[in-house]
Amino acid sequence: CGIIGILGSHEVAPLLVESLKRLEYRGYDSAGIATVNEGRLDRRRAVGKLVNLSDVLVHDPLPGHAGIGHTRWATHGVPAERNAHPHRAGRVSVVHNGIIENFRELRAWLADRGLVQESDTDTETVALLANLFLSEGASPEEAVEMTLQRLHGAYALLFIFEGEEDLLIAARKGSPLAIGHGDGEMFVGSDAIALAPFTSRITYLEEGDWAVVTRAGARIKDGAGRLANRPAKTIQIESAQVDKAGHRHFMAKEIAEQPSRLTTALNHYLAEDGTFRLPGQGLDFRAMDRLTMVACGTASYACLVAKYWFEQIAGLPVDVDVASEFRYREPPIPPRTAALFVSQSGETADTLAALRYCRDKAATILSVVNVAESSIARESDLALPILAGPEIGVASTKAFSCQLVVLALLALEAGRQRGHMDEATHAERLAALRSIPGLVNHALGLSEASDRVAAKLAEARDILFLGRGRMYPLALEGALKLKEISYIHAEAYASGELKHGPIALVDKSVPVIVMAPHDELFDKTVSNMQEVMARGGQVLLVTDREGANVAAHGVWEMLVLPDVAALWAPILYAVPAQLLAYHTAIAKGTDVDQPRNLAKSVTVE
Ligand code: G6P
Repeated sequence: CGIIGILGSHEVAPLLVESLKRLEYRGYDSAGIATVNEGRLDRRRAVGKLVNLSDVLVHDPLPGHAGIGHTRWATHGVPAERNAHPHRAGRVSVVHNGIIENFRELRAWLADRGLVQESDTDTETVALLANLFLSEGASPEEAVEMTLQRLHGAYALLFIFEGEEDLLIAARKGSPLAIGHGDGEMFVGSDAIALAPFTSRITYLEEGDWAVVTRAGARIKDGAGRLANRPAKTIQIESAQVDKAGHRHFMAKEIAEQPSRLTTALNHYLAEDGTFRLPGQGLDFRAMDRLTMVACGTASYACLVAKYWFEQIAGLPVDVDVASEFRYREPPIPPRTAALFVSQSGETADTLAALRYCRDKAATILSVVNVAESSIARESDLALPILAGPEIGVASTKAFSCQLVVLALLALEAGRQRGHMDEATHAERLAALRSIPGLVNHALGLSEASDRVAAKLAEARDILFLGRGRMYPLALEGALKLKEISYIHAEAYASGELKHGPIALVDKSVPVIVMAPHDELFDKTVSNMQEVMARGGQVLLVTDREGANVAAHGVWEMLVLPDVAALWAPILYAVPAQLLAYHTAIAKGTDVDQPRNLAKSVTVE
């Protein structure tokens, strides 16, 4: 969920909505705002996307110069108006991101006192508690402190109070919050991007902090109740572009941007003479015996591709794990292990928890992130930006390819430092990597062909993706992309695993998408393809010219990409995977940029 609070000098409702627009990537099940106006608390809420709330506000405006807002990704309680934030109890209104783990006990405790909830949420419990303490005579600040002491779990919370037009109380535990300093105005939000239209002077709350905010400034206390001095800093945020630049969807824009974004990333890390240029010092791959990579979703598939690179190019053993599994498994972290976290948002709760686990075990913490000011970036020893620019479409596209390029550069640097390849090989691989943005540009030309194929894919109930070696993670990403936005069931398998189970699914109604550049494993993949076709399966072969020459016979369709160095093929083949998902979703008429049930950044575990 995304949260925002403003103590302004004018009407805040439009500003709250403007800011929520920037937070909608955190969820869009419902949205709401609350204000204090002439001492009175009031609120407006609407199920579904933010536009629904905007419509409500047109007919039923909400005046006031102080307010809070929320955009929700449902955890406790179905997406219904009664479960939408802000929640209110008597004199208190609250918005919340996170999960209060002991809310059932608290709710029972409140019910014993005759205080019954209207919603199914854990957040209303917080409002009821704070209001109870107020009614017992506590000041707003005391009431919040007493409430926080009773909460277990993760939260970012904002409170406003009846009769208090110059007061906003914010609390952070496990879920980030940034305070923005304006000119006689104050802002609090889930991230700095939400505050970018208003101010660039930001104070980040630390774990356990809570802040009493008035228009004169913020007084921050740490978890032990001591006054804390948290410096404000001026940050640069690309504040523009919540804008589709003429494209029908953000996803289409973001797919199309890849050549320029990949070039930006390459130029950032490579000096004129081709040497690798690291921000900061001291990334020593010779001091590592093992690299542990952790991420969620698409970012975890970028890690899986990188595992092939690091192991082959640098002889560096790599483990890859999804963060939600890694963090609870109690994995041993031997000395000389570095841990690398990959995250577009830099805020994914499970990835952040995994990072903290590794930090406690004294591993070197590296991260590859898109949002440079994010929690994961700030808590890393070395954070490497991917420079993809803001990604709005929920299905990750340009962030994935930029993650791959940065990981490719790291793998090359690791190989060089560890003496795992000679100079000539290094130069050749680097040159090949530099040619990728141009090839990606060429691959965008497959949009029309993908559109044609998608008409057929859209009729399927199940779709299989196959790939071998470095193309196996790409098959996983292709299947994920497709199911995320077209809602068609798609599964990916390593081609060699086909005969160990999934081949049972194959018949003429199941399209099988094979990602196979003409590389050292091509012949083996072609054999697997034959096994599919022998059983009536419809093969869509995604390959290059040579692959198309050799293997065209009997396939249903082909998408032909330019030749590419086999090592870097996954970056190029990401493009048809994206285009196929995009056009299939269009053919199905689904909501491409904001598919059902998903959120761009998942800040709860
Ligand atoms: C969500 C998004 C995915 C994304 C994943 C990890 O599930 O819908 O597209 O890959 O989170 O997000 P991160 O910001 O950590 O890369």
